[in-house]
Amino acid sequence: MTLVGVAVGAALAVVAVFIPWLPDAASEQADLIDSVYWVVTIICVVVFAVVAGVSGYAVYKFRAPPGDSDDGSPIHGHTGLEIVWTLIPTVLVTGIAIYSGVALAQAEDLPPDHRTIEVTSEQFAWTFTYPDIEVEGGNALTTGELVLPIDQAVRFEITSKDVIHSFWVPEWRMKQDAVKGITTRTTVTPTELGTFPVICTELCGLGHAIMRSQARVLSPADFEAWVEEQRRLAREGGAVQGADLFAAQCGSCHVLADAETLGQVGPNLDEALQGADAEFIMESIVDPSAEIAEGYQDGVMPSNYGEIFTEPQLEGLVEYLLEATGGGAR
Ligand code: CUA
Repeated sequence: MTLVGVAVGAALAVVAVFIPWLPDAASEQADLIDSVYWVVTIICVVVFAVVAGVSGYAVYKFRAPPGDSDDGSPIHGHTGLEIVWTLIPTVLVTGIAIYSGVALAQAEDLPPDHRTIEVTSEQFAWTFTYPDIEVEGGNALTTGELVLPIDQAVRFEITSKDVIHSFWVPEWRMKQDAVKGITTRTTVTPTELGTFPVICTELCGLGHAIMRSQARVLSPADFEAWVEEQRRLAREGGAVQGADLFAAQCGSCHVLADAETLGQVGPNLDEALQGADAEFIMESIVDPSAEIAEGYQDGVMPSNYGEIFTEPQLEGLVEYLLEATGGGAR
């Protein structure tokens, strides 16, 4: 029994120490959340070890000898012990509640120089709006990927157009439900450059598993350059910008030979758009439910491209797709 115990303990220790249990921590909030997580985990490990150890010892020490079919001596109450085993959990749970409450308050702490980004979710897409960045026509900059400067706190104001979704970037730890009719909020201060997944963590329908986007954290200078690029794209449109837009936004779901994209989620556009006219292509982008290609289901393609893209961008995309698929009369 001792040997088995030691072997199992050693195997568990290897698993515990050598598996990276948490994703990289890439925000100020992640460090706070991880501290709480590990403190609680360590307390749990200690409590489990004590309880399992005492139980194991009692089973061994007080086991009935062979042939003993007695009922065992009657025991009734032990006030001292009962006070101790009530007091310890009370102190532990209260302590954990206070500690995590303080950590949560610090995580949501919002410095005055923060930026606000509106997050809109719908089956099955994310839309990010930057209310303080103006593009062509006085509209706020709206994108399908989240781009942020490093080390600046961001207040996310989150909502949904339909069912409940949940906004989560694992490396930032903070997670918040998106609910129609109310605005939920969360705060993140990214501390690492890089690209991280934006994931929906609320089962929301057929496309839940593909309801993903990405968050790119840039240096302040690169962020400004990105904003200028977005302004230019919103202003100019045209087939060349349409090609860029296609590669960035559409290629992960659609095959298109001209763009060398291989996405398998939606129809192969070389086939589906063969000979299609501009009107049909535009309708397929802004109102994908209008006509569903055979063998595909309604509601998988996001219906928000009419909002994410400006008019010049949409026209550029249509222009590009017409060229790429040899458009003409359908
Ligand atoms: Cu949206 Cu799952």
